[in-house]
Amino acid sequence: MDLLTVHGPTPLHGEVTVPGAKNSISKLLVASMLSDEESHFCNVPSIGDTQITIDICAGAGMNLERGDRGLSVQTASLADASISPQLAERNRLSVMLLAPLLNRCGEAIVPFAGGDRIGARPIDFHLDGYARLGATIEIHNGHYRATASRLRGATIALPYPSVTATENLLMAATLAEGTTVLSNAAIEPEVTDLVLFLQKMGARIDLGPDRTYVIEGVATLHGATHDVMPDRLVAASYGAAAVATGGDLFVRGARQRDLISFLSALQRAGGRFAVDTEGVRFSGGELRAVSIETSVHPGFMTDWHPPFATLLTQAHGTSVIHETVFEDRFAYADQLSKMGADIEIFDLCMGDSTCRFREGGHRHSAVIRGRAPLAGCDVHVPDLRAGFTYLMAAVIAKGESRITGIEELDRGYESVDEAFKGAGAMIERTTLPTETVGAGAAAVVGA
Ligand code: EPU
Repeated sequence: MDLLTVHGPTPLHGEVTVPGAKNSISKLLVASMLSDEESHFCNVPSIGDTQITIDICAGAGMNLERGDRGLSVQTASLADASISPQLAERNRLSVMLLAPLLNRCGEAIVPFAGGDRIGARPIDFHLDGYARLGATIEIHNGHYRATASRLRGATIALPYPSVTATENLLMAATLAEGTTVLSNAAIEPEVTDLVLFLQKMGARIDLGPDRTYVIEGVATLHGATHDVMPDRLVAASYGAAAVATGGDLFVRGARQRDLISFLSALQRAGGRFAVDTEGVRFSGGELRAVSIETSVHPGFMTDWHPPFATLLTQAHGTSVIHETVFEDRFAYADQLSKMGADIEIFDLCMGDSTCRFREGGHRHSAVIRGRAPLAGCDVHVPDLRAGFTYLMAAVIAKGESRITGIEELDRGYESVDEAFKGAGAMIERTTLPTETVGAGAAAVVGA
């Protein structure tokens, strides 16, 4: 287990580079398994989550060869219709394997998914969708068993535009017999990246103006080559960190078109940015309070909110964040308060809209009063985005902070300590001897 020791405050200056998107490469790897031919990916992020997904896919029969930021993969045959529970608990990807396993083997045995603990995160939309496509689903102790001699096209209306349910059902429908109409679906850029790759593989997918995909099933798909889109979550994280520390940072690879609502919120809060063809430059200003409501694309995305909340601790006035995507995303607030942030969490809908979490006591709105001086302290990372938040807070804070649970951070941010160091932060990474590792450090599970 690694520890980061950070001495602050330091404004971030210089340049960082955004790698390929974690939430894109993981689905692209699974999609490649729909074919027995070879596929090639460029701009592959070197992060813990990519390795976890590779382990899951390799366990089911995928072979791979690594290049410089590239991966060549091929699943000539599927080794087994089942996924090991030890691998499955490490991220949320195992349920996506239903698509290649059912289409190519007619059977899939998939353990319950892991993932960041940011809400209940059921997979009922996935399973209901597969049932509509003609699969028989049995729920056993700790795993699902799905069978189908061949999936059949169907009309599926998602109750909410879930990202992974959309991706899962899109993949499944590409090889189903007949036409599938998937409505109220997700249109996040990572979903579009998957659609682009599936089209290159020979899939027939159309997207209407109202979040509706129409997929005409084909008999086989072939291999394809694809550049993984840049990670817009990482881009926004570094942008927020630059602004909150009063720095000036060029985020190479950040794409304006993926960041519209983030840039708009940043502007309202007094942060500055300048777009050029290679990326976006972010710099600090006199920060002021704003109200934010997270939403599905093209709204302000849920993963941007933890770093943005840390930025708002440095803004003058009272800010509000209404989280409408996950019901339990403020677990990081207690430790941020320990560092001096003034954050209060409420179970009310504190935004323009009432959301699914209005009833049931879900603590999903925050009031942040600023500007609060932060002081260094010891914190443990509960989930990926919270991890970045603590690192960012530690760079803003006066004094020393010691951050444990770094494996969580490494799952989604490539060489994050080196990137911060290169931008002027004072950070040391130490590997702790095993006997000093406490409970809570054992399992790295995520997104
Ligand atoms: N939902 C259900 N039933 C389902 C599926 C979803 O009730 O069957 C609910 C969820 O509980 C949640 C909402 O629908 O309240 C939206 O969840 P969604 O399915 O869209 O999220 P996800 O697919 O589990 C992905 C990303 C998350 C990102 C969200 C939202 C991956 C592997 N994860 O999660 O990324 O926050 O979409 O954009 O793609 C991260 O990278 O740190 C991360 C958490």
